[in-house]
Amino acid sequence: MRTETDRQTRVLGRSGIEVGALGLGCWAIGGEWVTPDGSPLGWGKVDDDESVAAVRRALELGVRFFDTADVYGAGHSERVLGKALAGRWDEAVVATKWGNLFDERTRTMDGRDTSPAYARAALQASLRRLGTDRIDLFQLHIGDTPSDEAAVLREACEGFVAEGLIGAYAWSTDDPERAALFAEGEHCAAVQHACNVLEDAPRMLGLSEERGLLSIIRSPLAMGLLAGRREPGRRAEAGDIRSTPPEWLHWFEEGGVPSAHWARRVEAIREVLTADGRTLAQGAIGWLWGRSARAVPIPGFRTVAQVEENAAALTYGPLRPEQLEEIDGLLV
Ligand SMILES: NC(=O)c1ccc[n+]([C@@H]2O[C@H](COP(=O)([O-])OP(=O)(O)OC[C@H]3O[C@@H](n4cnc5c(N)ncnc54)[C@H](OP(=O)(O)O)[C@@H]3O)[C@@H](O)[C@H]2O)c1
Repeated sequence: MRTETDRQTRVLGRSGIEVGALGLGCWAIGGEWVTPDGSPLGWGKVDDDESVAAVRRALELGVRFFDTADVYGAGHSERVLGKALAGRWDEAVVATKWGNLFDERTRTMDGRDTSPAYARAALQASLRRLGTDRIDLFQLHIGDTPSDEAAVLREACEGFVAEGLIGAYAWSTDDPERAALFAEGEHCAAVQHACNVLEDAPRMLGLSEERGLLSIIRSPLAMGLLAGRREPGRRAEAGDIRSTPPEWLHWFEEGGVPSAHWARRVEAIREVLTADGRTLAQGAIGWLWGRSARAVPIPGFRTVAQVEENAAALTYGPLRPEQLEEIDGLLV
């Protein structure tokens, strides 16, 4: 019989590294960073002391997996995470990403580099910023890297595993064919992809099942829309990517106001998600666990309170199959 503990266990492939069913996303705690034309790529201002306290609170609550990227806050997210984990690395599992070029001084993202030489340089820089000598999961951040280049990077990652610099590697991509190409590598342990109760990702979840990967689930709360604090009419602050949403960010409109279409869909399923006494965010996380035993949602956070609420989703576990069916019926 499967116990609650089994259901909350997730392992990064051959590395044997145990991540747990819930991680935390460290994009927002990077603070402000921009494109060369000044458009926001961060989530507005953050309080680093609160971010450090939130990471440490997560560890106390048994959440040990943290997903960051070198480019979040142009290096700042890795530095803050490293500060929070100093002296506590044995309690944590850390994933970072590489592939984007950025200037730490101006906090600007200014290109990409998918060469193996840059992968090594980026890995060394991430190790320095985090303050550690090994990264558990190293992820390619460029989702549309051509297959021939990706095959070379996969072999470079195998080399980093052999050198003991990383435990395992993954690709952050929403393309199952690309993910399958990385999955050919012996130490490829996961794929990071989008999925949430508003927008399912059956092909990606199917691929993880087939290839024995973990699905590290980004934007599990639809960037806050599924956390209940983004009520219709509420505007995002300047400096928050939701305030001037890029083309791919369809959950929000100019000014960071939730899109009426998506807000209506959230309302349609709110009652099912919040049954059993869950908050909306806890219900959205429970839906992902109900969808796949390989799903590891990594909700973003900025405060201790958000971490506490999201970690408490673990006490409720997955939504039941009949609740998933009911949601399917409501979202047709
Ligand atoms: N290409 C990639 O590889 C990629 C792309 C996107 C994301 N990611 C990763 O996935 C992680 C998660 O995705 P995401 O940050 O895009 O979005 P998300 O997890 O869907 O939403 C996170 C946001 O929701 C709000 N929130 C979280 N918990 C809450 C709670 N309990 N109550 C109220 N509000 C709450 C917070 O924003 P406010 O407080 O500001 O509302 C938080 O920053 C990222 O941090 C990053 O690590 C990776």
